[in-house]
Amino acid sequence: MKKKLVHLTVNEEYHELYISPRKLLVEILRDELDLTGTKRGCSTGSCGACTILLDGAAVKSCSVLAVQVDGAKVTTVEGLADGAGLTPLQLSFLDHGAFQCGFCTSGMLMSATAFLNEDPVSEDIKKGIQGNICRCTGYNSILRAIRAVAEGKYEDEGR
Ligand code: FES
Ligand code: FES
Repeated sequence: MKKKLVHLTVNEEYHELYISPRKLLVEILRDELDLTGTKRGCSTGSCGACTILLDGAAVKSCSVLAVQVDGAKVTTVEGLADGAGLTPLQLSFLDHGAFQCGFCTSGMLMSATAFLNEDPVSEDIKKGIQGNICRCTGYNSILRAIRAVAEGKYEDEGR
C-alpha cells in the first residue's frame, strides 16, 4: 500500500513522516520515533498501556491509525516533564510506590495527567484511570498518588 505523508508534532518536535496507511499511532511512536515509553500491551484498546495525549486528550494509541491524526499534537510520557525534572504526578507516583513492573505506568500517567488537567474533585479519581489496567499494584497506591496531586499536595513540586 502506498505510503502517505503525515505531519505530527510529538513532544513539541515537528515530524514529517511517510508511513503506511495501516500503521497504528503506537507503532509510529515506538518504531519510527523510538519513543518506547509508550507500551504496547493488548493492541485491542483494552489495557491502556499505550495511552498518549492527542491534542491534550488521553487516547489509546493502538486504537488510531497514524494517518488519522495528521496534523495533531502528541505528547508521550517522554514529553511530560520538562528536561530532567519530573511532573508533580510523576513525583507522587514515586512517593507512593505507584508501580511494580512498570508496564502500565506510562499509560497511567498519561490518563491521569489528562484527568487532572480537567481539575477534578478527588472523589472522581477512579474515573481518571478507568481505561487502564494494572496487573501488579491492586490500584490503591496509584489512586493515592493521583489523589495527592488532585488535593494540591504537590503544588510546589516539579514544573
Ligand atoms: S495496547 Fe493499546 S489499549 Fe492495550
Ligand atoms: S505496575 Fe505492573 S502492570 Fe501496573
